[in-house]
Amino acid sequence: MPNRLMFALMATTAVAAGASLLAAKTTAGIAQGGNSWTLGEDAATKKNPLTPDAPTLAAGKAVFKDKCQRCHGPGGLGDGPDSDPDAREDMDLTNPKRAERNPDGLVYYKVLNGRRRPKMPAFKDELNEGQIWSVITYTQSLRKKP
Ligand code: HEC
Repeated sequence: MPNRLMFALMATTAVAAGASLLAAKTTAGIAQGGNSWTLGEDAATKKNPLTPDAPTLAAGKAVFKDKCQRCHGPGGLGDGPDSDPDAREDMDLTNPKRAERNPDGLVYYKVLNGRRRPKMPAFKDELNEGQIWSVITYTQSLRKKP
């Protein structure tokens, strides 16, 4: 029955397309590939090795101004000149509600690997391990208290 087979195939494709759309929307999801974030297996447990002391925050701020501010805005609100207006809420690094969904390791992989859509560049070729953790420490300091 080729027609039924055809229909089944088309239905499967539609479901798969819907699922990947959904995956792209769940920013905190550990989903891999497609338009989503690419996260390492230790994303939930990896810890920031740095303490938020003055030199670390200063180093992190410098990286932020250089690499992140154009999109995330000077205060991390997601209002930089290159920000994606449709993704502003997801780009707000100060929202305390997003903090619990973004433990250290998750943020680390987000910065390391970026994502395709909404577009955030990968920084693994631009920043070393220490720079990544220092900018993370700085962005964590921008979070409003819950
Ligand atoms: C070209 C613009 C752009 C640049 C540059 C950029 N980002 Fe992003 N960033 C985004 C977008 C868009 C999102 C939202 C993606 C989404 O929908 O989840 C995002 C999301 C994030 C998130 C996840 C927020 C959350 O609550 O899920 C973190 C953390 C982050 N960026 C940190 C950084 C850091 C640190 C830098 C600099 C090293 C940086 N970004 C540079 C565009 C950018």
